Amino acid sequence: MTSGIQDQWAQWVLGRGYGDDPEQQQRVLADLYPVRDRVLRNAEIAEGEALLDVGAGNGLIAFRAFEQVGPHGTVIFSDISQDLLDHCQTLAQQIDALDRCQFLCMSADHLSLLGAASVDIVTTRSVLIYVAAKQQAFNEFYRVLKPNGRLSIFEPINNYFGSQTNQTKEFWGFDTVPITDLVEKVKAIYRRVQPLETNPMMDFNERDLVTFAQEAGFTEIHLELQVNVTPGAWYNKWDAFAHTAPNPCAPTLAEAMQAALTPDEADRFMAYLLPLVKAEQGTKRYAWAYLWAVKRSKSNAG
Ligand SMILES: C[S@@+](CC[C@H](N)C(=O)[O-])C[C@H]1O[C@@H](n2cnc3c(N)ncnc32)[C@H](O)[C@@H]1O
Repeated sequence: MTSGIQDQWAQWVLGRGYGDDPEQQQRVLADLYPVRDRVLRNAEIAEGEALLDVGAGNGLIAFRAFEQVGPHGTVIFSDISQDLLDHCQTLAQQIDALDRCQFLCMSADHLSLLGAASVDIVTTRSVLIYVAAKQQAFNEFYRVLKPNGRLSIFEPINNYFGSQTNQTKEFWGFDTVPITDLVEKVKAIYRRVQPLETNPMMDFNERDLVTFAQEAGFTEIHLELQVNVTPGAWYNKWDAFAHTAPNPCAPTLAEAMQAALTPDEADRFMAYLLPLVKAEQGTKRYAWAYLWAVKRSKSNAG
């Protein structure tokens, strides 16, 4: 499904993020659509506006925004993945939207292809978690916004519950006490690939987001933190679970098992975990933040 796709971001967004499984993709999207709609509501889009979506990925936010800015509005898709921008450009062509879309390859912390005060709205969803220079990214959002422009962000607060790979009793929300020895070996792979100390997904919380926005110059800022702990699981099929990478920089479970476990250990690991996955017998824990802010013009700042 991801053949011909080169970079790690595109591979993850278009396949490894949901185990290359269309049903799992639908489960993920069912969770994401309300998030997308909330990000866009917080942006208070008006017809005819120019919107920049930073880290547009597969266009989840940007294509819905395109409908909302109306026939005189424009949407700029930006990402560090040229493969994802090409993917979005193809989709835009299919809906005859190319004349009102732009595709810019640039990093969130260096929006160098855009001038100051050039867009009405900046949106971004689950992108800052991958950016080390988060303050610089907020500075850039502020710079490219016109006076009275709006910023609308969604980010998971991954350190709210501590690192998944440091949990001793669970593996992705499944109780794994009886196979702790095996789980520890698998988690060691993830810790090696993404050491906690240098992982930008774990180095901020919701209060930092507010601070970044204030430091950038925003004078009106709102933040909503949502924290949920519910019975259930993110997966209900073993194959989708095993072939999913938790993020674009990490191995899939199958890859980590291959690296960490002997064939006998892998069998024991799977024999224990598979029934729990199928029965969705786990705990879903997540914390996430919506931040929205206005760049008040000097005349009405207060
Ligand atoms: C989890 S995906 C989210 C995609 C999209 N925003 C959405 O709502 O579905 C993260 C996206 O951020 C992009 N990305 C990663 N680092 C970035 C950076 N430094 N600047 C801009 N985009 C980045 C990836 O290429 C990927 O498209």
